[in-house]
Amino acid sequence: MSAKNRYLELFKLTKAYPNRFGEEVPVVKDFDLILKRGELVSLIGHSGCGKSTVLTMVAGLNSITSGGIVLDGHEVSGPGPDRSVVFQAPCLLDWMTALQNVKLGVDRCYPHASHSERFQICEYYLSAVGLGDYLDKYPRELSGGMQQRVGIARAVALKPKLLLLDEPFGRLDSLTRLELQEVILNLIEREKLTSLLITHDVDEALFMSDQVCMMTNGPNAKVGSMVKIPHPKPRDRQEFINDKDYFGLRAKLVRFLSEQEKLKLAPNAVI
Ligand SMILES: Nc1ncnc2c1ncn2[C@@H]1O[C@H](COP(=O)(O)OP(=O)(O)O)[C@@H](O)[C@H]1O
Ligand SMILES: [Mg+2]
Repeated sequence: MSAKNRYLELFKLTKAYPNRFGEEVPVVKDFDLILKRGELVSLIGHSGCGKSTVLTMVAGLNSITSGGIVLDGHEVSGPGPDRSVVFQAPCLLDWMTALQNVKLGVDRCYPHASHSERFQICEYYLSAVGLGDYLDKYPRELSGGMQQRVGIARAVALKPKLLLLDEPFGRLDSLTRLELQEVILNLIEREKLTSLLITHDVDEALFMSDQVCMMTNGPNAKVGSMVKIPHPKPRDRQEFINDKDYFGLRAKLVRFLSEQEKLKLAPNAVI
């Protein structure tokens, strides 16, 4: 693969945490992944396998034990405005309005813009997530889904090179979840963002991704298998679900996860 196709590259990424005896145990080991510019890759795997560990290392919020991360030709070391993260909890400052929450990051990322330009940037992104009429509302006045929309606007307003999404819909009911999938996909399309998404939901991974990265169980978790989702974007959900290849792709993901589940229960089993 040519260098230009390696927009984000994780090579031999390894993270060890100390166990209760003080020994360093590699949770993730030799994790290799490449994302092309504009691609959305989701990471699926059983709870505790190390998905968030990978994502927080890419975000620069978690130190790397060995291996490396290169984003757009620059090695990642520590957090930076070129990467923004949406977590499961919206993490808004509750004494600030929706607009002020978004503006906090915008003020730092656009220091040369005028006050009114920065206001317009916040308004643009809050409108893009459907909150144009809620700029002055406080988090307590917004539903969980709306709070998460603010978190998405805040992350995307920074025009990051990489959008990191750690189960961003995990706390939402299924209808809101479907709505927010579309909101994020529209923004990603509009802003040509490259994204890494962690999800538990096989259908969400299929609908949203260009590729799905299936992680093996920890310790020493790594990439078990990659599945390409070739359907062109934007996708229509109904058409996508009814596509002749959909169930085959879905079966691959489910089979992988159930094999990993068996290995978890009986680590020496031959599958
Ligand atoms: N700061 C930490 N110190 C020690 N162990 C950790 C720490 N963070 C995560 N772990 C352990 O690493 C493993 C992977 O965690 P995590 O990356 O959160 O998994 P996932 O996101 O796939 O559910 C888990 O066993 C978890 O207990
Ligand atoms: Mg996690």
